[in-house]
Amino acid sequence: MTLQKRQLVLESCWPYGLNSTFKVGDAKMNLTSEEKAMLAGDFGPGVKRAMEIIVALGKIYGARELVVVQSVQVAGVSYKNLGDAGSEFLQEWAKQGVRVCVPTTLNPAGMDLTHWRELGISEEFAHKQLAVIEAFKAMGIIPSCSCAPYLIGTSPTLGQHIAWSESSAVSFANSVLGARTNREGGPSALAAAITGRTARYGLHLDENRQATHIIEVRCPVTSEADFGALGYLVGKRVKNGVPYFRGLEDSQQNGLKALGAAMAASGAVALYHVEGVTPEARAGDVVATEAETIVVDSLDEGYAALNSPVDAIDLVSIGCPHASLAEIEETARWLEGKRTKTRLWITTARKTKEQAQEQGLVEPIEAAGGKVVADTCLVVAPIKELGLHSLATNSAKAAFYAPAYSGLMVRFGRLEQCLEAAVTGRWPG
Ligand code: F3S
Repeated sequence: MTLQKRQLVLESCWPYGLNSTFKVGDAKMNLTSEEKAMLAGDFGPGVKRAMEIIVALGKIYGARELVVVQSVQVAGVSYKNLGDAGSEFLQEWAKQGVRVCVPTTLNPAGMDLTHWRELGISEEFAHKQLAVIEAFKAMGIIPSCSCAPYLIGTSPTLGQHIAWSESSAVSFANSVLGARTNREGGPSALAAAITGRTARYGLHLDENRQATHIIEVRCPVTSEADFGALGYLVGKRVKNGVPYFRGLEDSQQNGLKALGAAMAASGAVALYHVEGVTPEARAGDVVATEAETIVVDSLDEGYAALNSPVDAIDLVSIGCPHASLAEIEETARWLEGKRTKTRLWITTARKTKEQAQEQGLVEPIEAAGGKVVADTCLVVAPIKELGLHSLATNSAKAAFYAPAYSGLMVRFGRLEQCLEAAVTGRWPG
């Protein structure tokens, strides 16, 4: 394939983009008879188009064959990012009658799909967003709208091949669950959902799952914000490498969720290992012989880089990646008997919100003036339209993206600092 043709394939994936870092090549691919029939159009034009995308990407990245996937997660759901061109692309595909053939979930949309008016979302945006969701639903996709599908029942197991898009979910699935996925672009994930296949390259292969860097952590890492600050620093250093952490043996799920999300934001880390914690690190030697060692003895640089000099706070956002039940519970406990001065959003999956409601955790948050917001997050919602200028968050990923994506000045710190800012309207201390 010529460079020009490769460029065309990449451009055809707009507006989602591709975010892979593996070598490109012109491999000859071995397809099964069923895969050849899909490519020949025997299953209809929509399946043919999907298989063409999978095979083209496989050739670009030197894959020899395809691999059956057990689940797919599709990003590029918010109308804010898709625009009319992306929305029409999806609706046209849906009109061709294509259906997904493996369990497929969606990343967050640009708004809470039922309570969007309460967030101040315009009618125009809401109708365009709902049209996008309808196109996905017509293809048989579950409109779960969460970047943490592993918290709500889509939890792949060790060694399972999947095709997920959202960078933080990709990181969690590869690292904490031991599943295998590259970071798919929107159309390539959709194509994987329609064909049930993806190309076997990158992180689907053992040789690319070896650690390229050893990270010796020699400072306390306790809160989710600490994990995020550490992830920010490491992502910047290792870029698309595979870090192997020492010194994080007590890590829990919420910390690892924050760590992976931050590394995927400041770098392009899609897989990491934690000594004694993550499944591949526990199973054997996963460190490449030439791995470089990096020592982290302070998180100060990470906190400094993610904070802007702003004191008055307009919005406090918790739940990037989407909040777990435990995070909602911690927030509810802290807010009991208090009253917020600023907007407070705890963003989460609709299913998690329902569980929180059943357990009486939403009521104290709402009584304090906060909102448990489902289906969306502040990075993919049209925040600029809401007239907000400053944000406090405990998420390094949100702090990293909010200035550019949402035009906000940011304070980044621990959950208690953020909640204090929600109550006083100012960043503490
Ligand atoms: Fe999820 Fe939005 Fe953060 S998609 S990872 S909450 S930027």
